[in-house]
Amino acid sequence: MWYILSWAVWVLRHAFDQTFAPAPRFNVDDDIPDLTGKVVLVTGGNTGIGYEICLTSLRKGAKVYMACRSEEKAREAIHRLRETLSTTTTSDINITYLPLDLSSLSSIHTFAAQFLEKEERLDVLFCNAGVMIPDRREITKEGYDMQFGVNVLGHHVLVGLLKPALTKINTSESNDKNRIIFLSSIGHTLFPPWYTQAFVPSLTVPGPARDGFGSGWPTGGIGLWGLYGHSKMGNILSARWFQKELGDSVVVTACHPGLISTELYRTTPSFLTLFTSPVSKPPSYGALTPLYLGFSPETSTSASGGRYYVPWAREVPGSLDVRARGEEGMRQAEVLDRWVRECVRKWEAESGGRGNL
Ligand SMILES: NC(=O)c1ccc[n+]([C@@H]2O[C@H](COP(=O)([O-])OP(=O)(O)OC[C@H]3O[C@@H](n4cnc5c(N)ncnc54)[C@H](OP(=O)(O)O)[C@@H]3O)[C@@H](O)[C@H]2O)c1
Repeated sequence: MWYILSWAVWVLRHAFDQTFAPAPRFNVDDDIPDLTGKVVLVTGGNTGIGYEICLTSLRKGAKVYMACRSEEKAREAIHRLRETLSTTTTSDINITYLPLDLSSLSSIHTFAAQFLEKEERLDVLFCNAGVMIPDRREITKEGYDMQFGVNVLGHHVLVGLLKPALTKINTSESNDKNRIIFLSSIGHTLFPPWYTQAFVPSLTVPGPARDGFGSGWPTGGIGLWGLYGHSKMGNILSARWFQKELGDSVVVTACHPGLISTELYRTTPSFLTLFTSPVSKPPSYGALTPLYLGFSPETSTSASGGRYYVPWAREVPGSLDVRARGEEGMRQAEVLDRWVRECVRKWEAESGGRGNL
């Protein structure tokens, strides 16, 4: 009981600090260098935070790949980007849409093959796409919990497949390292404290562990918010894993982008937005921390690797859940990576696909 109370106080303290964060000291106009020649990939770039990341990357001259699941939404978003940027830029923007459905391992493999055919090098990858609180019955094509499947499994597989481009040595003058940014959330702290490990494989598939306690809190089981927390914890573990696996050639980070008004809340109860909207910020704020991690010279060295950042572009000691920290967090990251490889092997065996991880 005492443990749960102290955990709740810790969550509230950080939720307050990050929701009412000090004014950003990072300014996208002044603090992001010219990005001409850089290749940037944004998953879920058609709306919300991802759209803002595309906008700034293009404004600074990068070549951008918008990876999303709806061609219609992508075309509409690219049209809006062109219109917005036509007032400030004279040359045409360099943006390409590539279809990617993170809830399907086949789609991820097709996407990666298409991308690697077009580009040898990927300078910055924003693992941004995400779902929050879908219907509990929703599962991915291969039968995994939708939140964990899209937010974690999909991105982890994607990064694994894009490794050849992500580890290509950058020969630009700045000699900047390649970067991968995982959009996590303060929601990772919603993973209930009675799960003592950061990753619980049985929660990723329909079954007693995931479905047995429909109401979740306070029955000692897991509700949809707990599953969202599990998935956002998974994003942090993925960042830790890839920093270790890819080593010095890449800087891999995770972040909470802030409480931001976006379509992420489309499936949450409407009373929630009633409470959150007065303190929410627009998507341009949500893009600040990921953009800082993607492009700031301050975060270009190995010293930033494997770390977790919060709004706006800050690293706050103690803001990462203890289950994902230190050696125990690294052990959990290894368990997650082994689980992902097993999922891919299963998919290969069942579909005749080739994983290449
Ligand atoms: N907004 C916040 O307050 C907040 C707070 C903490 C963390 N975050 C994190 O920030 C990230 C971006 O969220 P957002 O607020 O910008 O949400 P959003 O506006 O809902 O954007 C989410 C994006 O993910 C895409 N997506 C969903 N399922 C997908 C799938 N199966 N395959 C490919 N793309 C898929 C969506 O595509 P469609 O448009 O086709 O649905 C959309 O482009 C998420 O990872 C979220 O967890 C957000």
